[in-house]
Amino acid sequence: MDIKKDITTRADIEKLIVQFYEAVKKDPAIGFIFTGAVPINWEHHVPLIVDFWETILLDNMVYKKNAMEVHYNLNKKIPLKKEYFASWLLLFCSTVDDLFTGKTATLAKTRAASIAAVMEFKMNGNDKSRL
Ligand code: HEM
Repeated sequence: MDIKKDITTRADIEKLIVQFYEAVKKDPAIGFIFTGAVPINWEHHVPLIVDFWETILLDNMVYKKNAMEVHYNLNKKIPLKKEYFASWLLLFCSTVDDLFTGKTATLAKTRAASIAAVMEFKMNGNDKSRL
């Protein structure tokens, strides 16, 4: 068995994201979003999400877009429910744990959790029907 190491390179992040999407696509709750409900150009999308995590985890400022904006638009087509964020986060954290261990791996999980919480609030926080 391989000894797990920490996330230190862009190649590590690529490996994480590729495995994460394999899991996401099979997920009973959110898989449908990634397998046809909205058109996703994967050749375009994967490098962007890798840029996003490289910016956060390796301090290389390669991601210049606004990820919240992308999800606002998505939310108009498919309302992003609280449970969807829970599934997303669980899969992200379990993929990190499956592949890596260390300070940056932990940072990936804590950042994912805080961004998911902010995103979920921005999508659903004003929905009075939930109160
Ligand atoms: C319910 C949870 C989520 C779902 C269903 C979801 C789904 C998606 C989909 C379908 C896209 C592609 C949109 C497109 O190309 O038009 C996307 C893009 C993206 N997502 Fe998410 N997402 C979720 C949560 C998150 C979270 C919590 C993060 C960050 C921690 C995140 C980071 C990103 C980034 C960086 C992109 C690329 C944005 C860009 O084009 O610049 N997502 N997401």
